[in-house]
Amino acid sequence: MRLVCSKNAAEKEKLQHNLLETIALMEQSHKDLINTNHSINLLSPPSPTVRAMYFEAPLHLDKKVREYIDRIKALLQLPDPELTPDNPHLQYIVEAAGGELLAAFDAVVSQYQEESEIEQFEIDLKQVELYQESCAATAKAEAHAAQLDCALCELKETQAQLLHSEKMSSLGALMASIVHEINNPVSFIYGNLSHAEIYTKDLLQLLNLYRDNYPEPPAQIQNQIEDIDLDFIVEDFPRVMSSMQMGADRIREIVRSMGIFSRTDNSHMTLCNLNESIDSTMLILRNRLKSKAERPDIQLIKNYGKLPVVECYAGQLNQVFMNLISNAIDALEEAAANRPDAELKISICTEVAECDRVRVRIADTGIGMTPQIKQRMFEQFFTTKEIGKGTGLGLSIVRKILVENHRGILQCESEIGKGTEFIIDLPVRQT
Ligand SMILES: Nc1ncnc2c1ncn2[C@@H]1O[C@H](COP(=O)(O)OP(=O)(O)OP(=O)(O)O)[C@@H](O)[C@H]1O
Ligand SMILES: [Mg+2]
Repeated sequence: MRLVCSKNAAEKEKLQHNLLETIALMEQSHKDLINTNHSINLLSPPSPTVRAMYFEAPLHLDKKVREYIDRIKALLQLPDPELTPDNPHLQYIVEAAGGELLAAFDAVVSQYQEESEIEQFEIDLKQVELYQESCAATAKAEAHAAQLDCALCELKETQAQLLHSEKMSSLGALMASIVHEINNPVSFIYGNLSHAEIYTKDLLQLLNLYRDNYPEPPAQIQNQIEDIDLDFIVEDFPRVMSSMQMGADRIREIVRSMGIFSRTDNSHMTLCNLNESIDSTMLILRNRLKSKAERPDIQLIKNYGKLPVVECYAGQLNQVFMNLISNAIDALEEAAANRPDAELKISICTEVAECDRVRVRIADTGIGMTPQIKQRMFEQFFTTKEIGKGTGLGLSIVRKILVENHRGILQCESEIGKGTEFIIDLPVRQT
């Protein structure tokens, strides 16, 4: 309207120029909107509703916009005399700008806004879902890592225990093969000793008979009797026989104990006499009780009750006694190193406890434990011993065998400087 009304040629020209630029911009924006030019930050192409608003009744916005642009272009091309307020192009432009076109624009813009809000909401929702998914994935990954950690710990534990049990079972296997080899000759000696004793008695009886009937033997025989000191032989022979019998009994006992100790079968439980198991373990450790340059003998005090046979993995219980008694000996040696006059004593007591259970107490008068050591003693690889002497596995294995494999209870009383007692409580039957 200003263009039409202005009398100033320069102003007119400037207005014409501005109008041309505005129209070009309008045309370009319109094209961009329809063709989804991403430089104008549209999220997605116009929806079917928006397209319908552009190209279909009742709005026909595309057509209206083009008509509006065409009219302005036409207006700008008119010769000056025709640029009058009642020019039909100008009439159209003014009417459209204030009425239909503006209303159609408003409708499309609010439709766009509504759609982009929904679209934005969906994006936000998606982002929330993605975030939740990533949180869940992180939690899952963390749980997995924790599981892996746990598995790794268990693997280490099993490996260490296998190593320990491997040592025990190699010891067991070695003993089993020694027992096997010794068994035959020992039975041979043992079985023949009773015959030898009878033959000896018979021969001595016969000899006495000869002497009674022939009190004056010829000189050659008399000389031989004196050379070999027959009277001494007659007197000593029964003693030799009985000490041979005692020796053979002892060997048989040792072989039997070795046989008990060498049981390594972990696949099924057997009925086992715990007193015998402890004795068989002591047989292996007997040498460690003997005096050394730096300490006297370790006294062993056994106080065995009459126990029922206990259902157990015999080889595993041997390992328990072995670990506990070895620890007791270590503690006594340390006590002796600290105090040369220390009393060195291990007491092993077995008894029947209430509720069909048996109890084994293994006590020593060794160095004892501080509360801190006592608190950590079952931890794997916890040791107070020098490198190469202790691996820190003994007690963790003991606890696993007793508590996990035999439904037992393991308690410990310890006082620093006084000694330690381990108390094992086991059910007689596992089922
Ligand atoms: N009878 C005991 N007296 C004093 N301390 C003990 C006794 N038994 C165990 N301990 C303490 O508990 C720790 C852990 O014992 P554990 O048997 O598990 O390992 P270790 O004897 O050090 O090594 P390993 O048995 O593997 O050779 C020992 O290092 C020791 O400090
Ligand atoms: Mg130990």
